[in-house]
Amino acid sequence: MRAVRYHDYGSADVLQIDEVDRPTPDRDEVLVEMRAASVNRVDVMFRSGQYGDLPLPSIPGGDGAGLVAAVGEDVAAFEPGDRVFASGMDRAEGGTFAEYAIIPAEKLALLPDGVSWADGGAIGNVGATAWTALEDLAGVQAGDRVLIHGGSGGVGHAAVQIAAHSGAEVITTAGSEAVRARLTDLGASVVFDYESDSLAEDILAAADGAGVDTILDHQLEEYLDLDLEVVTEGGTIISTMGHIPETNGRPFYNKEVTIQPLKMDNHPSRRPVLKRLARLMEQDVLAPVVADTYAFDDAARAHQEILTGGYVGKLVVTP
Ligand SMILES: NC(=O)c1ccc[n+]([C@@H]2O[C@H](COP(=O)([O-])OP(=O)(O)OC[C@H]3O[C@@H](n4cnc5c(N)ncnc54)[C@H](OP(=O)(O)O)[C@@H]3O)[C@@H](O)[C@H]2O)c1
Repeated sequence: MRAVRYHDYGSADVLQIDEVDRPTPDRDEVLVEMRAASVNRVDVMFRSGQYGDLPLPSIPGGDGAGLVAAVGEDVAAFEPGDRVFASGMDRAEGGTFAEYAIIPAEKLALLPDGVSWADGGAIGNVGATAWTALEDLAGVQAGDRVLIHGGSGGVGHAAVQIAAHSGAEVITTAGSEAVRARLTDLGASVVFDYESDSLAEDILAAADGAGVDTILDHQLEEYLDLDLEVVTEGGTIISTMGHIPETNGRPFYNKEVTIQPLKMDNHPSRRPVLKRLARLMEQDVLAPVVADTYAFDDAARAHQEILTGGYVGKLVVTP
């Protein structure tokens, strides 16, 4: 089978197409004939060697969608021919940028018939992250105000839709005017330019001066001071960034703010959250946005494009 692989860490150019043996599923694993997979930022970090220590050569891709081709003897939830989508693949075991991928059954759920391969392939990791942050950790409720930094991104565009569906008022940010205009269609009440000098005042004004109850932040190092200014008393900041910077004392203490780190590797069993996402997509509550699709031969371009940004949603690769 064809697989995208890298034999050394480095720039996107290290990605190449190799002919490799089709793998065989273990007892609790599923062999999936991949139809679409998505680029996640962490894939770029692994490929560039920032995370290191992957057995090389490595196949990138931590989520995706496809048809079940075979199941291990302990797998009862799926059978050959099922449409499935995945989230949370362990990079050390090989990824989804291949014609076939081995995926543990607990990281798969059925993909509803009405959901395209590209949408199913795009949503796994970012949808699981958005749901875990907003629903499982922050417990966002109707009437809450939620600030989502970078609503145009993979996680952000899912988070905007999930928070809006919960009945929250969603304030978000993005880089370009064209992109900002599209985020209100996804459920945001107001969208600001993240480079604006008056961002904190604008957010507070949009929140009637009362502040926001929950913040989803992927660049806490840059936004901690702003977050502490705009968060309400007793509010929660969910950080998907690995490093929690020093809090600057007073506002943090006075407002009794909770800063909650989120590391999705700590949530290895993905079937429950994938089933949630499947239901939301079936109900047209969650509509993944696929900004562009690339063939496997063009995977390097997709790995470069995610760093450029300036689009809404996800980049998808297909065999
Ligand atoms: N901890 C975890 O388990 C976990 C899980 C998932 C993701 N993450 C991390 O979360 C981050 C987002 O992931 P993603 O998949 O959504 O990435 P993504 O699709 O590449 O989105 C990045 C977002 O950041 C925005 N952005 C760029 N510069 C910004 C700035 N100065 N201020 C505010 N926003 C800015 C982009 O906006 P424009 O494109 O409009 O410029 C875009 O909305 C990544 O760093 C990823 O590694 C962590």
